[in-house]
Order: sequence, then C-alpha cells, then structure tokens
Amino acid sequence: MEPLVRTQGLTLHFGGVVAADKIDFELHAGERLAVIGQNGAGKTTFVNICTGFLKPSSGRVFFDGRDITHLPARVIVHRGLARSFQLPQLFLEHTVRQCLEIAAAARMRQLGVFRALSDSVDKHEIDHTLELVGLRDRASLPASSLPEGHRKLLDVAMALMLNPKLLIMDEPTSGVASEDKHTLMATLMGALEERRVTCWFVEHDIDIVNRYATRVAAWIAGRVAADGPPAEVLRNEQVRREILGSA
Ligand SMILES: Nc1ncnc2c1ncn2[C@@H]1O[C@H](COP(=O)(O)OP(=O)(O)OP(=O)(O)O)[C@@H](O)[C@H]1O
Ligand SMILES: [Mg+2]
Repeated sequence: MEPLVRTQGLTLHFGGVVAADKIDFELHAGERLAVIGQNGAGKTTFVNICTGFLKPSSGRVFFDGRDITHLPARVIVHRGLARSFQLPQLFLEHTVRQCLEIAAAARMRQLGVFRALSDSVDKHEIDHTLELVGLRDRASLPASSLPEGHRKLLDVAMALMLNPKLLIMDEPTSGVASEDKHTLMATLMGALEERRVTCWFVEHDIDIVNRYATRVAAWIAGRVAADGPPAEVLRNEQVRREILGSA
C-alpha cells in the first residue's frame, strides 16, 4: 500500500544547524505515531516541512502518492493533511462555535463555494464535532475563556472540520497540567479514531507516548535515530541515553 506520507532525503540547514538531515520517512494510514526527541532535535522543523510551512533545501515530500514539496501550506491542508500547533492558533475573540464555523467556511471555499458564513455550515456537523471533543456545553463561550487543554481540543476540532486524512499534532499536551493530560489524549484519540484520521504527534511525556502510540520515531540531531514499536524504541540504548536520560 502507498504510504500516506513519504519523504526522500529531506534536508534543511539553519546556518550551521542541520535541522533535517537527509530524512527518509514513511507513515501509513491507520498508524498512531509519536515523535520523541530532545529540544532542538528537529521535530517541529520536520512537521513544518511536511506541511508546507518551511521549504527544504533538498529532498521531496509525498502525501497520498502526490509530490507536495513545493505546494503552499494552504493547498496542502486542503489535500487532507492538517496540523495543530505547539501553541493553538485560535480566533480568540470568537466563540467556540464560531471558530468551527470559520473552519467549515474555509472548507467550503476550498470547494469553490462562496456563501455567507451562517449558510455555509451544517449545524449538526458542528454539534457532532463539538460533542466528539467534549466542548458542546462550551459552544457559546469565547475561545479566550478556555483553559489550555480545552484550547487544544478546539484547535483539533477546527482541524477536523476540514475532513483531514492525517492530523499532525505538535505537542498536544504541552502547557496542560499533568493530571489532565491523559483525559485530553483519550478525548483526542477517540475523536480521531471515530473520524478515521491517521495521527502523528510530537510528545515529550513518555507515559503518554507509551499509552497512545502504535509506533515511535526518535529524533536526534535532525535524523530519525530509531523507529518502530514503542517498547522496542523506548528500550533502544541510544534513545535511553540521549533522549530519556535513563541509560
Ligand atoms: N526558523 C528558524 N531559524 C533558525 N533556526 C531554527 C528555526 N527553526 C528551528 N531552528 C533551529 O533548528 C533546530 C531544530 O529546531 P526544532 O524547532 O525543529 O526542534 P524541536 O525538536 O521541535 O524542539 P522542541 O522540543 O524544543 O520543540 C534548533 O537548533 C532550532 O534552534
Ligand atoms: Mg518543537
């Protein structure tokens, strides 16, 4: 089966820093990949290149069998590759429901349909998506009033309105109190599973990685140092020494 994402020799330097070093990588539909690595290892850079926010100095990115290396981010998102950010990108002055209406309107524009915002959305679809991420009872609150964990959920709900095939989440649990992280991840993963969305998330919390990933890729200095089933990668000697600090 053709992988959902495939990169070939993906390379990007920032001055003397090699943020991506000839990365060959594949992700298949249905996987739940956790990317781990020290600060500055290049995890976000790789996400940024795959989603069109940065262009590589060499190498290529394929999504769903097509070369997307030189496409702008807004086109890539409409091909079915959505992302969330280390800091959620919300419309803070709008209500939770309006944020989803804006996301739905963006999807209609992609289809070439221009309508007033209120006409362009299926109310039931929005209700269902809010239900899925547990924000239905907050629909009329301003996004700015939500705590960090709920902002992450709203960010993902907005991404789901675009009907993605893949969602890449950059540190979905960062800034969330440790006692709330598991609830947040369980909600996110349940929502993605219900919508059949493949998922790749960057995560520092190894408990979360162990619990929710079906595969782990360990980033060290712009390279994939280990990649495979969680138990195997988390036992890898270099990973333990350089990432987990426990060898
Ligand atoms: N726009 C940029 N300009 C210059 N250097 C950058 C830029 N973005 C990233 N870098 C550098 O590239 C390297 C990789 O950074 P990146 O943000 O991808 O790491 P990361 O693994 O996501 O780290 P973290 O866990 O802290 O989020 C770092 O040395 C960083 O300083
Ligand atoms: Mg990062």
